[in-house]
Amino acid sequence: MIRPILVNSLHTELSYLVKRAVSYYVSTPIFYVNSSPHIGHLYTLLAADAQNIYHRLKLQTNDTTFSSGTDEHGIKIQTAAEHGEMPYQKFCDFNTSKFYRLVKHYDIGVTNFIRTTNTNHMKAVQNLWRELDSKGFIYRSLYSGWYCVSDEVFIPESQIVTKTDGGVEIKVDAHDNVLKWTSEENYMFRISKVLDKVHEWLSMEKPVHPAKFNDEAIRLLELARKDDLSISRPQARLRWGIPVPDDPSHTIYVWMDALTNYLTTMGYPCSAESLKRWPIDCQILGKDILKFHAVYWPAFLVALGLPLPKRLLCHSHWLIDSYKMSKSKGNVVDPFEEDKILTIEGLRYYLLRCGTFHSDTDYNRTQAILRLNAELCGIYGNLLSRCAATAINPDQIIPTCFSSKVDYSTSIQLKRLDDLKATCETYYDYGDYYKAVDEIMSVIRVANSLYEVAKPWILVKELGTSEDARIQHSNIQALTFETLRICSLLLQPIVPKISKKALNRMSVSDRNWSDAHVKLSLGDPSLERRKVDNFSSLDTVLFPRLKVN
Ligand code: MSP
Repeated sequence: MIRPILVNSLHTELSYLVKRAVSYYVSTPIFYVNSSPHIGHLYTLLAADAQNIYHRLKLQTNDTTFSSGTDEHGIKIQTAAEHGEMPYQKFCDFNTSKFYRLVKHYDIGVTNFIRTTNTNHMKAVQNLWRELDSKGFIYRSLYSGWYCVSDEVFIPESQIVTKTDGGVEIKVDAHDNVLKWTSEENYMFRISKVLDKVHEWLSMEKPVHPAKFNDEAIRLLELARKDDLSISRPQARLRWGIPVPDDPSHTIYVWMDALTNYLTTMGYPCSAESLKRWPIDCQILGKDILKFHAVYWPAFLVALGLPLPKRLLCHSHWLIDSYKMSKSKGNVVDPFEEDKILTIEGLRYYLLRCGTFHSDTDYNRTQAILRLNAELCGIYGNLLSRCAATAINPDQIIPTCFSSKVDYSTSIQLKRLDDLKATCETYYDYGDYYKAVDEIMSVIRVANSLYEVAKPWILVKELGTSEDARIQHSNIQALTFETLRICSLLLQPIVPKISKKALNRMSVSDRNWSDAHVKLSLGDPSLERRKVDNFSSLDTVLFPRLKVN
């Protein structure tokens, strides 16, 4: 006989599995508040937003978790606040509001915005510390080493480069950050005890994409084997942070503090079983913070006895004239200004369309405008305006079936359309947005060519006199609208508002991922049809042509 307690836990386990099957959890890193947002930050948010939308459509649920937020402790923030002669918390409030505004301005579907200065998060971090301590992972030791102030981390010998600067010998890290020799009494994390497990995860599951970053993570892990990890700083040096439990003379290492945010979102501190939606499905991060997410973070999780993230999508950087954007170089693109030129959806499209995860991309406004005019306005918008225009479509009809057997080029296009969803999935799953959009745009491009060949603007004049013209006209309209319906559905993660506008115009009501297959059949188009919607919006232009400066 099954004892009630077991039934209960079985029930919990089952409902947990059912819940996991239809839910999804994606995160962005949390942003440092020592400077204002730039389009690199926006890119991280958009990449995660596209994953979130894609999974909502695919899983047919609105019940997803999308976490982001601000990383408000540490030396960088402490120094920046002191420079601005502002109290720390006020400084953080002021700068956090800019990131929060960024999320709202671009209508990004963040469900949980974590601030590391919030009490629930601080409790989570202290609890995490206590758990690691009780499991024997924390000890005290004198620690000396080369410290990188900008990354707030001690750099191992193997990653240090010696240079001369103005005749003086200096030490820098791989990113050319100047290092400072620092000695202090610290708490250490026995990372060495868990790295084999992390190694197994990286080499067996290969969770980091693109694959080159998984290889890079394994290399970083090998370097991390040399020393245990320092996880506190003396309070005298780092005042702005979370105190070590029962020892306020030390402040918790800012990366341990920040990484915990992914658990705070899930309701931690709580028992492992009641941790909602863990492990996380997808973590988006930039390549500069790979070590923290693919080595330190899983190391903490292994030590806590929690499952590891399912997937890490690591993206490269946006550059300006081949240099990484940064406030200190003064070469940042302001996302609150750039949309005035490119529009909000235009900038979103450009970043997701042209950014690649595997390599850095140069931000170029002129190229962005040319791309938007060619694709959103030209290829996509123009085709929809043409087949919805009264000159070509006098009865404002969208045939949803063919009136006769289709010709060879139409059947080839139907095959392309039917394959498009699966192709896009393989790309969206790994953050290869540019490849998915490339496929979609080439299908619309073919539809444009077929339209040119069929010449419905000539056929329309013969509708009353020629049965053949009537059939051909109806067929090309059906094929073109079907192309636009499927492509609009698949573009939802990239340009949610533009695709919505197109789907509204075509009176499409079923908008799930599973609807993105060919629904046209053979039948009587006078019975099987929708009407073009010219009433719900006065603005029928899908995307305006932008002026090249
Ligand atoms: N606070 C840490 C993350 C802690 S997560 C536990 C941090 N913050 S950040 O503000 O510097 O960066 C946040 C994200 O923006 C990172 O994914 C980073 O890679 C990304 N970007 C910052 N500059 C970027 C570009 N120029 N281009 C693309 N993304 C970039 O790191």
